[in-house]
Amino acid sequence: MSKPALTLILAAPRGFCAGVDRAIQIVELALERFGPPIYVRHEIVHNRTVVESLEAKGAIFVEELDEVPEGAHVVFSAHGVPKSVPADARRRGLAYLDATCPLVSKVHVEAERLHAEGMHLVMIGHEGHPEVVGTMGQLPDGAISLVETIEDVARLSVPDPARLGYITQTTLSVDDTAGIVAALQARFPAILAPHKEDICYATTNRQAAVKTIAPDCDALIVIGAPNSSNSVRLVEVGARAGVATALRIQHAGELDWSRLDGARRVGITAGASAPESLVEALIEAFRARFEVTVEQVTVTEERIQFKVPRALIG
Ligand code: F3S
Repeated sequence: MSKPALTLILAAPRGFCAGVDRAIQIVELALERFGPPIYVRHEIVHNRTVVESLEAKGAIFVEELDEVPEGAHVVFSAHGVPKSVPADARRRGLAYLDATCPLVSKVHVEAERLHAEGMHLVMIGHEGHPEVVGTMGQLPDGAISLVETIEDVARLSVPDPARLGYITQTTLSVDDTAGIVAALQARFPAILAPHKEDICYATTNRQAAVKTIAPDCDALIVIGAPNSSNSVRLVEVGARAGVATALRIQHAGELDWSRLDGARRVGITAGASAPESLVEALIEAFRARFEVTVEQVTVTEERIQFKVPRALIG
Protein backbone atom coordinates (compact mmCIF):
# COMPACT_ATOMS: atom_id res chain seq x y z
CA MET A 1 0.00 0.00 0.00
CA SER A 2 1.40 3.43 -0.86
CA LYS A 3 2.08 5.81 1.95
CA PRO A 4 0.06 9.04 2.31
CA ALA A 5 1.77 12.27 1.20
CA LEU A 6 2.88 14.78 3.80
CA THR A 7 4.96 17.96 3.66
CA LEU A 8 7.37 18.87 6.45
CA ILE A 9 8.17 22.57 6.73
CA LEU A 10 11.41 23.13 8.59
CA ALA A 11 11.73 26.48 10.34
CA ALA A 12 15.16 28.11 10.15
CA PRO A 13 16.93 29.18 12.22
CA ARG A 14 16.22 26.39 14.70
CA GLY A 15 18.18 24.37 17.24
CA PHE A 16 21.58 25.18 18.72
CA CYS A 17 22.45 28.82 19.37
CA ALA A 18 25.97 30.18 19.83
CA GLY A 19 25.66 30.12 23.64
CA VAL A 20 24.69 26.45 23.75
CA ASP A 21 27.38 25.54 21.25
CA ARG A 22 29.99 27.31 23.40
CA ALA A 23 28.79 25.70 26.64
CA ILE A 24 29.05 22.19 25.14
CA GLN A 25 32.49 22.99 23.70
CA ILE A 26 33.65 24.14 27.13
CA VAL A 27 32.73 20.80 28.72
CA GLU A 28 34.26 18.82 25.83
CA LEU A 29 37.50 20.85 25.87
CA ALA A 30 37.71 20.56 29.67
CA LEU A 31 37.37 16.77 29.36
CA GLU A 32 40.18 16.71 26.77
CA ARG A 33 42.46 19.05 28.65
CA PHE A 34 42.01 17.92 32.26
CA GLY A 35 40.62 14.41 31.72
CA PRO A 36 37.46 12.98 33.25
CA PRO A 37 35.66 13.43 35.46
CA ILE A 38 34.61 17.03 34.83
CA TYR A 39 31.77 18.11 37.10
CA VAL A 40 29.01 20.29 35.68
CA ARG A 41 26.74 22.26 37.98
CA HIS A 42 23.18 21.92 36.63
CA GLU A 43 22.36 20.54 33.15
CA ILE A 44 24.88 22.37 30.94
CA VAL A 45 21.95 23.13 28.61
CA HIS A 46 18.38 21.90 29.04
CA ASN A 47 18.56 18.81 26.82
CA ARG A 48 18.82 15.15 27.88
CA THR A 49 20.52 14.03 24.65
CA VAL A 50 23.30 16.58 25.16
CA VAL A 51 23.64 15.73 28.85
CA GLU A 52 23.79 11.97 28.20
CA SER A 53 26.38 12.32 25.44
CA LEU A 54 28.61 14.39 27.77
CA GLU A 55 28.07 11.89 30.59
CA ALA A 56 29.29 9.15 28.25
CA LYS A 57 32.51 11.15 27.78
CA GLY A 58 33.08 11.55 31.53
CA ALA A 59 31.06 14.58 32.65
CA ILE A 60 29.24 14.29 35.99
CA PHE A 61 26.19 16.50 36.47
CA VAL A 62 25.38 17.80 39.93
CA GLU A 63 22.89 20.35 41.22
CA GLU A 64 25.07 22.00 43.87
CA LEU A 65 28.77 22.58 44.48
CA ASP A 66 28.80 20.58 47.71
CA GLU A 67 28.49 17.48 45.51
CA VAL A 68 31.83 18.30 43.84
CA PRO A 69 34.90 16.73 45.54
CA GLU A 70 37.91 18.81 46.60
CA GLY A 71 40.37 19.56 43.83
CA ALA A 72 37.95 18.72 40.99
CA HIS A 73 37.14 20.85 37.93
CA VAL A 74 33.59 22.17 37.69
CA VAL A 75 31.77 23.94 34.85
CA PHE A 76 28.86 26.35 35.46
CA SER A 77 25.95 25.98 33.02
CA ALA A 78 24.99 28.29 30.14
CA HIS A 79 22.13 29.76 32.21
CA GLY A 80 24.49 31.62 34.54
CA VAL A 81 24.90 31.39 38.30
CA PRO A 82 24.39 33.68 41.29
CA LYS A 83 27.57 35.44 42.48
CA SER A 84 27.60 33.19 45.53
CA VAL A 85 28.45 30.14 43.38
CA PRO A 86 31.90 31.18 42.06
CA ALA A 87 32.59 32.65 45.52
CA ASP A 88 31.85 29.23 47.07
CA ALA A 89 33.98 27.49 44.44
CA ARG A 90 36.93 29.79 45.27
CA ARG A 91 36.45 29.21 49.00
CA ARG A 92 36.57 25.45 48.43
CA GLY A 93 39.58 25.67 46.12
CA LEU A 94 37.68 24.22 43.15
CA ALA A 95 38.92 24.99 39.63
CA TYR A 96 35.88 26.33 37.80
CA LEU A 97 35.04 27.22 34.21
CA ASP A 98 32.09 29.48 33.54
CA ALA A 99 29.94 28.46 30.54
CA THR A 100 27.42 31.26 31.14
CA CYS A 101 26.24 32.49 27.73
CA PRO A 102 27.86 35.87 27.00
CA LEU A 103 24.37 37.25 26.30
CA VAL A 104 23.28 36.27 29.82
CA SER A 105 26.47 37.82 31.20
CA LYS A 106 25.53 41.01 29.35
CA VAL A 107 22.28 41.14 31.37
CA HIS A 108 24.29 40.57 34.58
CA VAL A 109 26.52 43.54 33.71
CA GLU A 110 23.46 45.67 32.91
CA ALA A 111 21.92 44.79 36.29
CA GLU A 112 25.10 45.72 38.14
CA ARG A 113 25.42 49.01 36.26
CA LEU A 114 21.86 50.08 37.04
CA HIS A 115 22.25 49.01 40.67
CA ALA A 116 25.48 51.01 40.96
CA GLU A 117 23.57 54.05 39.67
CA GLY A 118 21.13 53.67 42.57
CA MET A 119 18.29 52.13 40.58
CA HIS A 120 15.89 49.48 41.81
CA LEU A 121 15.48 46.76 39.19
CA VAL A 122 12.48 44.94 37.82
CA MET A 123 13.25 41.63 36.12
CA ILE A 124 10.78 40.13 33.66
CA GLY A 125 11.21 36.36 33.79
CA HIS A 126 10.00 33.00 35.06
CA GLU A 127 10.38 32.37 38.77
CA GLY A 128 12.74 29.50 39.58
CA HIS A 129 14.31 29.25 36.10
CA PRO A 130 18.09 28.93 36.61
CA GLU A 131 18.79 31.99 34.46
CA VAL A 132 16.49 34.10 36.63
CA VAL A 133 18.04 32.70 39.82
CA GLY A 134 21.50 33.50 38.40
CA THR A 135 20.65 37.03 37.30
CA MET A 136 18.83 37.94 40.53
CA GLY A 137 21.80 36.52 42.42
CA GLN A 138 24.13 39.14 40.90
CA LEU A 139 22.76 41.73 43.31
CA PRO A 140 21.95 41.76 47.03
CA ASP A 141 18.57 40.34 48.11
CA GLY A 142 15.74 42.78 47.49
CA ALA A 143 17.57 44.78 44.78
CA ILE A 144 15.52 43.11 42.01
CA SER A 145 11.74 42.56 41.90
CA LEU A 146 10.58 39.74 39.62
CA VAL A 147 7.45 40.07 37.45
CA GLU A 148 6.06 37.32 35.22
CA THR A 149 2.80 38.86 33.99
CA ILE A 150 0.98 42.13 33.40
CA GLU A 151 -1.01 41.40 36.59
CA ASP A 152 2.28 41.27 38.53
CA VAL A 153 3.10 44.75 37.22
CA ALA A 154 -0.20 46.08 38.61
CA ARG A 155 0.65 44.61 42.05
CA LEU A 156 4.29 45.71 42.06
CA SER A 157 5.50 48.00 44.81
CA VAL A 158 8.90 49.67 44.39
CA PRO A 159 11.03 51.88 46.66
CA ASP A 160 11.09 54.92 44.31
CA PRO A 161 9.20 54.97 40.97
CA ALA A 162 11.59 57.65 39.69
CA ARG A 163 14.65 55.39 40.08
CA LEU A 164 13.77 52.19 38.27
CA GLY A 165 15.19 50.08 35.48
CA TYR A 166 14.15 46.79 33.96
CA ILE A 167 15.96 43.75 32.59
CA THR A 168 14.58 40.50 31.16
CA GLN A 169 15.33 36.80 30.89
CA THR A 170 16.92 36.14 27.47
CA THR A 171 14.50 33.41 26.36
CA LEU A 172 11.07 35.00 26.79
CA SER A 173 8.25 35.39 24.30
CA VAL A 174 9.00 38.57 22.34
CA ASP A 175 5.30 39.48 22.15
CA ASP A 176 4.38 38.73 25.79
CA THR A 177 7.39 40.69 26.98
CA ALA A 178 6.43 43.70 24.85
CA GLY A 179 3.05 43.70 26.66
CA ILE A 180 4.69 43.54 30.10
CA VAL A 181 7.17 46.28 29.18
CA ALA A 182 4.28 48.47 27.99
CA ALA A 183 2.50 47.90 31.33
CA LEU A 184 5.68 48.82 33.24
CA GLN A 185 6.15 51.97 31.17
CA ALA A 186 2.51 52.97 31.66
CA ARG A 187 2.77 52.55 35.43
CA PHE A 188 6.33 53.85 35.85
CA PRO A 189 7.01 56.32 33.01
CA ALA A 190 10.58 56.99 34.21
CA ILE A 191 11.63 53.32 34.04
CA LEU A 192 14.91 52.79 32.15
CA ALA A 193 15.11 50.17 29.40
CA PRO A 194 18.23 48.03 28.79
CA HIS A 195 20.77 49.62 26.39
CA LYS A 196 20.26 46.69 24.06
CA GLU A 197 17.33 44.24 24.03
CA ASP A 198 17.86 41.45 26.61
CA ILE A 199 15.86 38.79 24.71
CA CYS A 200 18.63 37.22 22.67
CA TYR A 201 19.00 37.00 18.90
CA ALA A 202 18.46 33.20 18.96
CA THR A 203 15.17 33.41 20.85
CA THR A 204 13.96 36.21 18.58
CA ASN A 205 14.94 34.45 15.34
CA ARG A 206 13.42 31.07 16.32
CA GLN A 207 10.13 32.74 17.26
CA ALA A 208 10.12 34.76 14.01
CA ALA A 209 10.67 31.58 11.97
CA VAL A 210 7.76 29.83 13.72
CA LYS A 211 5.48 32.83 13.10
CA THR A 212 6.44 32.77 9.43
CA ILE A 213 5.66 29.08 8.86
CA ALA A 214 2.63 28.89 11.20
CA PRO A 215 -0.04 30.10 8.72
CA ASP A 216 1.04 27.35 6.32
CA CYS A 217 1.01 24.47 8.87
CA ASP A 218 -1.76 22.16 10.12
CA ALA A 219 0.47 21.17 13.03
CA LEU A 220 3.76 22.29 14.58
CA ILE A 221 6.28 20.11 16.39
CA VAL A 222 8.87 21.76 18.63
CA ILE A 223 11.79 19.58 19.71
CA GLY A 224 12.88 20.65 23.17
CA ALA A 225 12.88 19.77 26.84
CA PRO A 226 9.99 20.61 29.18
CA ASN A 227 12.36 22.79 31.25
CA SER A 228 13.73 24.60 28.18
CA SER A 229 12.20 28.07 28.38
CA ASN A 230 12.80 29.01 24.75
CA SER A 231 11.31 25.68 23.52
CA VAL A 232 8.13 26.10 25.57
CA ARG A 233 7.81 29.65 24.20
CA LEU A 234 8.03 28.31 20.62
CA VAL A 235 4.96 26.12 21.24
CA GLU A 236 3.06 29.15 22.58
CA VAL A 237 4.15 31.31 19.63
CA GLY A 238 2.97 28.63 17.19
CA ALA A 239 -0.39 28.20 18.91
CA ARG A 240 -0.91 31.96 19.05
CA ALA A 241 -0.03 32.29 15.37
CA GLY A 242 -2.94 29.97 14.61
CA VAL A 243 -1.50 26.45 14.32
CA ALA A 244 -4.31 24.09 15.39
CA THR A 245 -1.96 21.53 16.98
CA ALA A 246 1.30 22.77 18.50
CA LEU A 247 3.29 20.06 20.33
CA ARG A 248 6.60 19.88 22.17
CA ILE A 249 8.49 16.58 22.26
CA GLN A 250 12.00 15.69 23.43
CA HIS A 251 12.61 13.24 20.60
CA ALA A 252 10.74 11.37 17.85
CA GLY A 253 9.90 8.48 20.20
CA GLU A 254 7.67 10.80 22.26
CA LEU A 255 5.45 11.81 19.35
CA ASP A 256 1.78 10.82 19.71
CA TRP A 257 1.02 10.29 16.02
CA SER A 258 -2.73 10.40 16.63
CA ARG A 259 -2.35 14.14 17.31
CA LEU A 260 -1.39 14.56 13.65
CA ASP A 261 -4.47 12.84 12.19
CA GLY A 262 -5.49 14.65 9.02
CA ALA A 263 -2.44 16.95 9.03
CA ARG A 264 -0.83 17.32 5.61
CA ARG A 265 1.61 20.16 6.30
CA VAL A 266 3.60 19.81 9.51
CA GLY A 267 6.04 22.44 10.75
CA ILE A 268 9.18 21.43 12.66
CA THR A 269 11.47 23.54 14.78
CA ALA A 270 13.85 22.93 17.68
CA GLY A 271 14.70 24.93 20.78
CA ALA A 272 18.15 26.47 21.22
CA SER A 273 19.40 23.51 23.27
CA ALA A 274 18.19 20.73 20.92
CA PRO A 275 20.72 19.11 18.56
CA GLU A 276 19.94 18.84 14.83
CA SER A 277 20.32 15.03 15.06
CA LEU A 278 16.94 14.99 16.86
CA VAL A 279 15.34 16.86 13.94
CA GLU A 280 16.89 14.39 11.48
CA ALA A 281 15.59 11.43 13.50
CA LEU A 282 12.11 12.97 13.53
CA ILE A 283 12.17 13.42 9.75
CA GLU A 284 13.17 9.75 9.41
CA ALA A 285 10.25 8.72 11.65
CA PHE A 286 7.92 10.65 9.31
CA ARG A 287 9.47 8.97 6.26
CA ALA A 288 8.63 5.56 7.75
CA ARG A 289 4.92 6.48 7.73
CA PHE A 290 4.48 9.02 4.93
CA GLU A 291 5.70 9.95 1.46
CA VAL A 292 7.53 13.02 2.74
CA THR A 293 8.43 16.24 0.97
CA VAL A 294 10.73 18.52 2.96
CA GLU A 295 10.69 22.30 2.59
CA GLN A 296 12.78 24.74 4.59
CA VAL A 297 11.79 28.34 5.31
CA THR A 298 14.72 30.53 6.40
CA VAL A 299 13.91 33.92 7.90
CA THR A 300 17.51 34.92 8.59
CA GLU A 301 21.05 33.49 8.57
CA GLU A 302 22.87 33.30 11.91
CA ARG A 303 26.65 33.68 11.93
CA ILE A 304 27.22 34.48 15.61
CA GLN A 305 29.91 32.47 17.41
CA PHE A 306 31.30 32.94 20.90
CA LYS A 307 34.87 32.23 21.97
CA VAL A 308 35.64 29.67 24.66
CA PRO A 309 37.70 30.69 27.72
CA ARG A 310 41.43 31.04 27.05
CA ALA A 311 42.29 28.48 29.71
CA LEU A 312 40.93 25.80 27.36
CA ILE A 313 42.80 26.65 24.16
CA GLY A 314 46.39 26.95 23.02
FE1 F3S B 1 22.59 32.55 24.91
FE2 F3S B 1 20.28 33.03 23.79
FE3 F3S B 1 21.38 30.73 23.49
S1 F3S B 1 20.97 33.76 25.78
S2 F3S B 1 22.44 30.39 25.40
S3 F3S B 1 22.21 32.69 22.73
S4 F3S B 1 19.22 31.08 23.76
